[in-house]
Amino acid sequence: MGCKYRVMDRCKAEENKDSLCFGKDDCPYYESEDLNTGRDKAVNRSDTDCIGISEDKLHHILGVARKAYRIAKDMGKDENFCRRCFMLGWIHDIGYEFSKEQSEHPDTSAMMLLLMNEDNVASDLKRPFYKAIRDHGRYPSEMTDEYRILNMADMLVDSRGREVTVSQRLDDIKDRYGEHSDQYLTACDVCYRIGLTAVNMSGNIM
Ligand SMILES: [Fe+2]
Repeated sequence: MGCKYRVMDRCKAEENKDSLCFGKDDCPYYESEDLNTGRDKAVNRSDTDCIGISEDKLHHILGVARKAYRIAKDMGKDENFCRRCFMLGWIHDIGYEFSKEQSEHPDTSAMMLLLMNEDNVASDLKRPFYKAIRDHGRYPSEMTDEYRILNMADMLVDSRGREVTVSQRLDDIKDRYGEHSDQYLTACDVCYRIGLTAVNMSGNIM
C-alpha cells in the first residue's frame, strides 16, 4: 500500500471488488478517477515525498474530533475537558502532512503540537494531551483518559469521517492493509486494550 494518493483510503472503483488499493502505478482506474474532484488525493504535497492530508483525511480528523468530544461528554467530563478532547481529535493526524511513512505520523503530530508553545516544551512533553497524540495507535505503559478517548474515537470513525462500529472499522483496516499487516494487528490490539472489543479480533494473545 505505497500509493501516497490513496493512503488510508479504500479504492473507489466499483469494479474493484476486493476494495484494495492498487497503488498509483498499477491502478487501472487511476487515470479516469484523476479526472474527477480528486477528493481522496493529498493535495499540495506533490512536490514532496510526504503522504499529505487528503480530503478524506480531513473528514476523518473532524469526525474523530467530534466523536472524542461526545465520548468525553458521555463520560461526564467537564466542558473544558471535552473541548480538549475535540482538540485531540483535531490534531492527532495532522502529522500526515509532513510524514513520509504512516508509522511516523503520531510523532510528527505530537511534535507539531510542541511547536505551538516552544517556550514550554519540557512541561508539554509530560502532558497527557501530548502523550495521547504521540501514543495513539500504540501501546503506552500508562493509559490515560485522553489516550482512551482519542483511540476510541479513532476506532469509531472511518477513514472518510463516517461514524461506524468498531467491527466495521477493523474490517475496513483489514481490507486496506491486509489481515497480517501491522496496521490491522495493532488496531485489533488497541481496540481490545481500551475495551472496545471483548476479545482481540486478530486472535493475538497479548
Ligand atoms: Fe493516526
